[in-house]
Amino acid sequence: MATKSGEGFSSSFGAIMAAAGSAVGLGNIWRFPYICGKYGGGAFLLVYICFVFFIGMILMMSEFIIGRRTGEDPMKAYPKLRPDRKGWRFVGLAGLFTCFLILAIYLVISGWTLNYFWESLSGTLASIADNDFASHFNAFASSTWRPIIFIAAFLLFTTLVIIGGVEKGIERVSKLLMPILLLLLLVLCVRSLSLHGASAGVAYLFQPDFSKLTGEGILAALGQALFSLSVGMGVMIVYGSYLPVDDNILKTSIWITVCDFAIAVLSGIAIFPAVFACGQDPTGGPGLVYQVLPMVFNSLGTVGRIFSIVFFLLLSLAALTSAISLLEALTQWLSSEKIGRTKSAIVMSLVVILFAVVASLSFGNGILSGVKFGGLQFFDLLDKLTGTVLPPVCALMTILFFGWFMKKEDIIDELSNHGTLKIGYFKAFYYFLARFVAPAALIVVLVSGLIN
Ligand code: PFF
Repeated sequence: MATKSGEGFSSSFGAIMAAAGSAVGLGNIWRFPYICGKYGGGAFLLVYICFVFFIGMILMMSEFIIGRRTGEDPMKAYPKLRPDRKGWRFVGLAGLFTCFLILAIYLVISGWTLNYFWESLSGTLASIADNDFASHFNAFASSTWRPIIFIAAFLLFTTLVIIGGVEKGIERVSKLLMPILLLLLLVLCVRSLSLHGASAGVAYLFQPDFSKLTGEGILAALGQALFSLSVGMGVMIVYGSYLPVDDNILKTSIWITVCDFAIAVLSGIAIFPAVFACGQDPTGGPGLVYQVLPMVFNSLGTVGRIFSIVFFLLLSLAALTSAISLLEALTQWLSSEKIGRTKSAIVMSLVVILFAVVASLSFGNGILSGVKFGGLQFFDLLDKLTGTVLPPVCALMTILFFGWFMKKEDIIDELSNHGTLKIGYFKAFYYFLARFVAPAALIVVLVSGLIN
């Protein structure tokens, strides 16, 4: 427990659950399957694995090291490590700003998910006329009040957990929810795989089609790897500041990364076989979960109804533990300015909900859909900024600081728990990846993304 406030995770297991809770979210269950299908299935998966383990995980370890070494929020951590270069605090600031924008759009999508959970429970989804879920989704998401009510309800749960504290709120909720989430997902996978015609879905997900793996696909794989592991934005610096002093950062990071990757793949296995078995379109894109899956559930009768409830519950829980980490990053920063934790959490929630409401109202045919920023509706602008632009830029700055400006002795000392852990060969390998490979890959992918 390195923080000045004395807040921290009580054990390595608690820390892994909390950080895996942050990593596993809408990105794994809602986003990963459709972009994996879109950019070549197995081909995309290969590139994605490399990005996850050689860039994403390296960033995660770097953020944990920065966080635990300083015990500070991202804005203060950088200048604390290099007091002679205070300008680095702007990297912390950019990360927190990105967290804020991600949280705003995340709340909108989480609100949709909560609504769909509610509609599965109440039977509304099962009784949509002609299975016209596209119209149902568009009418709901473009309406004024209903999405806002669900955004507010979701944010209320999130804020209450934050107010509960790091150990008694975040850690406790994550330890409870993460195993439930895995169990629900496994149930869905088994059911989906046992449907007649499921193998076409498995093939769609895993069979490599290199012709679909474009430059855009590679950028998407990188963006997805960073987004999915919650790295680059400083959230893991925050969680790093809560890590127990004797926690083995390498092991913890491997666990979180494997867990995040496995859940993304399992989500694909839960979704695509069912989509194929029911003869639906797998290229549904972002609408897959809200427009195609309900159709799949309805064609499965009573079992489908249970399937639907379980699925949207799963998605809501995954979104909750991620939203918690985003709000925690903002709350930690504000409360370090000598405003109490509770007050900080409430103030941050009130500010972010304003943005979320505007994003919601600008979606589809919403009442603010006519207001454009550079030709984009506010929702689409947020989506673009948080999906492909800001995370890689913030990640690049973080890893450059880590590899080129932070003292190597500090890194080794922290990674080895002050010399008590043997990190022999790994030390050189890790430092090489952090100093050269990760920044180079981030620069190449970013530049090629800008050119295209
Ligand atoms: N990793 C989360 C997901 O996959 O849905 C989203 C996320 C959480 C991104 C926290 C960034 C972050 F800082």
